[in-house]
Amino acid sequence: GGLGIPVVDADLEQALSAGLDDVEGRLLAAIKSDDEVLDEASRHLVTAGGKRFRPTLTLLAAAFGDVDGPGVAPAAAVVELTHVASLYHDDVMDEAELRRGAPSANARWDNTVAILTGDYLFACASVLLADLGPDSVRIQAKTYQRLVQGQLRETVGPAAGTDPVEHYLSVLSDKTASLIAASARLGALHGGVAAEDVEVLARYGERVGMAFQLADDLLDIAGESAISGKRPGTDLREGVATLPVLYARRSARPGDERLLELISGPITDDDAHAEALALLREHPAMSEARDEVRRWADDARTTLATLPDVPARRALEALCDTVVTRTR
Ligand code: FPP
Ligand code: MG
Ligand code: MG
Repeated sequence: GGLGIPVVDADLEQALSAGLDDVEGRLLAAIKSDDEVLDEASRHLVTAGGKRFRPTLTLLAAAFGDVDGPGVAPAAAVVELTHVASLYHDDVMDEAELRRGAPSANARWDNTVAILTGDYLFACASVLLADLGPDSVRIQAKTYQRLVQGQLRETVGPAAGTDPVEHYLSVLSDKTASLIAASARLGALHGGVAAEDVEVLARYGERVGMAFQLADDLLDIAGESAISGKRPGTDLREGVATLPVLYARRSARPGDERLLELISGPITDDDAHAEALALLREHPAMSEARDEVRRWADDARTTLATLPDVPARRALEALCDTVVTRTR
């Protein structure tokens, strides 16, 4: 189920729950296919019980205006479809076997089916976008460019002589924060929110999106598979250096030699992988990285200061804490 943010206002709670139900129906209708494999493969992750973080944000941003605006629920469906599309591709690239507690599409079928299903879902999002108008199409298309750019830069890694932490943060901004910012922006636009508040909500999305992915990267190391629905240590296995790894490398305390050797590249050996995971979990770099999540979440909260003091604002404030403490 959903995110479980404490929404203190009964009307907002009701609007949010009705809105999310509406989005669920639209997601299923949008992906329906006469092709049996596409139908099953696309339902596979769409119905696997995601948090619906992005649609929730779309609805909350819209709630600064009219949450029942005709474009709001379709926009929320668009961002979730785009997100899920990117997960099918991401799991191929990461060779991930588990997603949302189920076998990834590449594990359940194969890479080709997973890639084509991702393409299909992206096409489904585009069909919905066509009815939302050119501004929405442009927002989504520019976001898609950033998703691809972030994902590519993660794969390529930092250029020689550049700061790896800066590189990592720019990857996160493009591969994750971009779509979360777009989720807020589209909701605000279709809710008819005042232009300056649309910008504030998009900036909030960018920042809370950074916190969201930083927390995701921590979960990859410290998370429990039974709760996160993913297999821990995927980044380590693939040699994707996330913040705890970068901080551990930077501090390089005496006694860290074994860990640094283990995390110098991709890890194929299961014992080495388990050892690296255990050493990293105990390393102070983890709490430094947690501080960084908190900083982004606090920045996100501060961004909201100029918005009207409505229940949706308090829900977005609460969302900052949810992102920091999330376990899945
Ligand atoms: C998950 O990161 C991946 C992303 C946030 C972006 C993926 C983007 C693409 C594949 C390009 C765009 C493609 C389409 C079809 C829109 P992660 O691997 O760190 O997270 P995880 O732990 O959830 O796997
Ligand atoms: Mg991944
Ligand atoms: Mg990835």
